[in-house]
Amino acid sequence: MRNGVIMHWLAATLKSSIGRKSVMAGSGLLLAIFLFAHLAGNAMAFFGRATFDAYAARLHATGPLIPVFETALALVVLIHIYFGLGLFFENLAARPSRYEVVANSGGQTFASMTMPYTGLLILVFIFHHLAGFYLADSSTVSDLVRQNLSRPVTAAYYIFSLLALTLHTSHGFWSMTQTLGLSHPKYDLLIERLALAASIVIGTVFILIPVLVLFRPGFLS
Ligand code: HEM
Repeated sequence: MRNGVIMHWLAATLKSSIGRKSVMAGSGLLLAIFLFAHLAGNAMAFFGRATFDAYAARLHATGPLIPVFETALALVVLIHIYFGLGLFFENLAARPSRYEVVANSGGQTFASMTMPYTGLLILVFIFHHLAGFYLADSSTVSDLVRQNLSRPVTAAYYIFSLLALTLHTSHGFWSMTQTLGLSHPKYDLLIERLALAASIVIGTVFILIPVLVLFRPGFLS
């Protein structure tokens, strides 16, 4: 009986536009946490090769937790894409009542209008990134990063994709705060600026790595 009520509530929530936007915000929040954690790990590279490799070794020492984490992450990405595509097609159909909800949550900016396209660029980047890092043959993470990013074409592709990530998160972070109810006329401008600042920090710190590998020959070597 209780299960039936929960299933009914879940089905009704996932059918409503705001319910699906909540799933986008929740999965987006988990992906943002992953991004900040990955960023903090990458930032170890700025302290030199030994620190970066020691960090990677500590991460790998977590052993069986890694596949569990990877599966959960892949699931969250799939959920984010599935519901994102749903909202995208809903916007295309643009039924007035539903359109209202979407239009209120951020207005139309270049970042908001290009969300599905920047999302697709990030997805392609993740496949390329994982293939480059897991299929390559290097003994240390520092060598792996250098081996991949010292090719100018690869470094340029990273920078391009990371700019797409910056654009995607600049709208995503803000939209997430609105959906999660962190909205107040007095603080909206501040929240919008903080979301933009967070996305610029993420983009800049990630981009610094290919830039340093390309232009500072001693970096990570
Ligand atoms: C310059 C930018 C980046 C560098 C240098 C970098 C580097 C790395 C490295 C070295 C690993 C393997 C870690 C290890 O197993 O030791 C890794 C894994 C990964 N990266 Fe990145 N990364 C970058 C940007 C990104 C971005 C922007 C995303 C997502 C949009 C991303 C998603 C992932 C994922 C999903 C994994 C696999 C995590 C796992 O297996 O647990 N990376 N990255």
